[in-house]
Amino acid sequence: MGRLVGLFRRLGPHAKRYGWNREFQQGAWFSGKRSPEIIDLLEQYGENARIVELGCGDGSLARHIQHVAHISYIGLDISDLAIDTARKIGDSRYSFSAGAIEDWQPVEPFDLLIMEECLYYLSAKDQDSLLEQALDALAPQGCAIFTFSGHDKHQATIDRVRQSGRVLADRFRAGRTFLVVAPADSPDRTS
Ligand SMILES: C[S@@+](CC[C@H](N)C(=O)[O-])C[C@H]1O[C@@H](n2cnc3c(N)ncnc32)[C@H](O)[C@@H]1O
Repeated sequence: MGRLVGLFRRLGPHAKRYGWNREFQQGAWFSGKRSPEIIDLLEQYGENARIVELGCGDGSLARHIQHVAHISYIGLDISDLAIDTARKIGDSRYSFSAGAIEDWQPVEPFDLLIMEECLYYLSAKDQDSLLEQALDALAPQGCAIFTFSGHDKHQATIDRVRQSGRVLADRFRAGRTFLVVAPADSPDRTS
């Protein structure tokens, strides 16, 4: 997996889309089940929120949070194949688009950003600018949730997230790291 991450980071957008489409075609990421931890965090931070998920894949998480009373959900992924599947959700609160996170520009205010198993596919420079841009664009009281497989497998990226703002939650459960961060100048509401 480490070599695959390194390869994806070096590819241009067309090659990345091709690579991820192949992964989805082969069923590698049609991951229906979600961890109780992410659902728990979404119930805690996603209530009445305008949600943006970057690297949303086939919309697996979106399907699992339909019961959370959120206002809207926007999903973005580089794999148009995965996005075609995600669009089948057919809930009017949900919209999906295919594109690269590196080109993402927040156009509407949002309260919650989610990136599950995705940030580490970006280069260090792109991770830094994404974190700065996303935390800056959050509405007051907003926050961002990141998940990473392993404890220290993606240490550099995890450290980058921890240093990007105020850490509201930092958990390691069932082999995965879950981090919730808010802008550094936001009010303290550590749980
Ligand atoms: C490991 S999968 C995780 C998918 C989903 N978040 C999950 O947890 O099941 C990584 C996802 O990030 C997407 N992705 C990777 N690099 C991307 C990029 N540069 N722009 C947009 N999406 C990207 C892939 O297409 C894939 O859906």
